[in-house]
Amino acid sequence: MTLYEIITKKKHNAELSTEEIEWVVAGFCRGDIPDYQMSALLMAICFNSLSDRETADLTMAMAYSGDMLKPETGGFNADKHSTGGVGDKTTLITAPIAAACGVFVPKMSGRGLGHTGGTIDKLEAIPGFRTDLPYEKFIAAVKKAGFAVASQTGSLVPADKKIYALRNATATVDSIPLICSSIMSKKLATGADGIVLDVKVGDGAFMKTTSEAEKLAEAMVRVGQLAGRKCSAVLTDMSKPLGKAVGNSIEIIEAIETLKGNTPKDSPLREISLTLAAEMLVTAGKGDSEQCFAMAEKALDSGAALERLRLMIELQGGDPRVIDDYSLFGKARFRREIFADRSGFLNGIACEQTGLTSLRLGAGRLTKESDIDPSAGIVFDKAVGERVCKGERLAALMTSTENGLDDIAEEFKGVFRIEEENRAQENFPKKNIIKIIKGY
Ligand code: URA
Repeated sequence: MTLYEIITKKKHNAELSTEEIEWVVAGFCRGDIPDYQMSALLMAICFNSLSDRETADLTMAMAYSGDMLKPETGGFNADKHSTGGVGDKTTLITAPIAAACGVFVPKMSGRGLGHTGGTIDKLEAIPGFRTDLPYEKFIAAVKKAGFAVASQTGSLVPADKKIYALRNATATVDSIPLICSSIMSKKLATGADGIVLDVKVGDGAFMKTTSEAEKLAEAMVRVGQLAGRKCSAVLTDMSKPLGKAVGNSIEIIEAIETLKGNTPKDSPLREISLTLAAEMLVTAGKGDSEQCFAMAEKALDSGAALERLRLMIELQGGDPRVIDDYSLFGKARFRREIFADRSGFLNGIACEQTGLTSLRLGAGRLTKESDIDPSAGIVFDKAVGERVCKGERLAALMTSTENGLDDIAEEFKGVFRIEEENRAQENFPKKNIIKIIKGY
């Protein structure tokens, strides 16, 4: 077997055998296969795709490239993964809800990627909070609080680390089988019994159209089922930022406010979080989707989920007083406010552009070495569909560095689309939850 032959096969759209796929992944991890040959194969996969069987084989080969964890919590372990969005703080709401309903959530999370934020960066905005817990301490926290969130260790799916870095540099990220194997290998390796996938759709997501998102969701559910896990994929709207805050500490505050019941009942953030939590409960056999939604709502409205978050923060070394005193997060030194330059309806907020602005303000990393500014970000005063009057405040930008801030604020004005007629319904999906693909 040579990589030259395997690249040629894929170039001619032939199916690779299980042995060939395992040989490639193992060889690339050992360093026996050079980057240029692996890049050629990845590009051939981008053009000719992989069959369901090949995708499953690639996922399993990647999952087994490192540790395969088995969280010993003594109960059902559910996991939730988002394909990446702007203002997406749902993990901080869904995991405590699921925990309050009796499901364990040992959550391994990542950092921000491109214009999208990461849960680990957000949690590290809490004074003292540690995301690098040793595995035994992490599981002990899960057993006590019902959930804990740690950063992925280097020994978890090393194949994905290497392949992802190459994909990032060779324009081969946006391939459904490659995204599926990257995400699902990590989910399978963390040992969850139930996996809920939040597949974002729209301008702020990696999948821009519903049909693309649907294909990815179906592929991931199929692989999860083949591996014997209960799976569910929820297609959710990411054509506008999720919630009012985009950043780190400000997103934690919005998640806490949601768990305190201070977010409107019909807000996208509340509905999406409750739906994802409900799906986690369904995978655990707690009832059907409707029954589990009601259970999740009760855990939120009773304050039980908020208490799980408080306990989890304390167990991970953070200061739990942040739940009641937001001043403990610290304030950004500089801010700029954006005001409406005309009256009308807010028909759109450019979502990817919002994520990129948050990144430039310091809430994400422009390079691998950049430090995160925990208090940087954007808080919106107006949501899509609302009427605005000339001179009203639309948003505030926050950062610790004044350098370039006026230019960023000037450019940011362009993300708001204010028009005479209300066209929000024409331009955005009417529903926050677009579709649920069930694999349980
Ligand atoms: N997130 C991942 O973990 N992998 C991908 O390939 C894309 C998004």
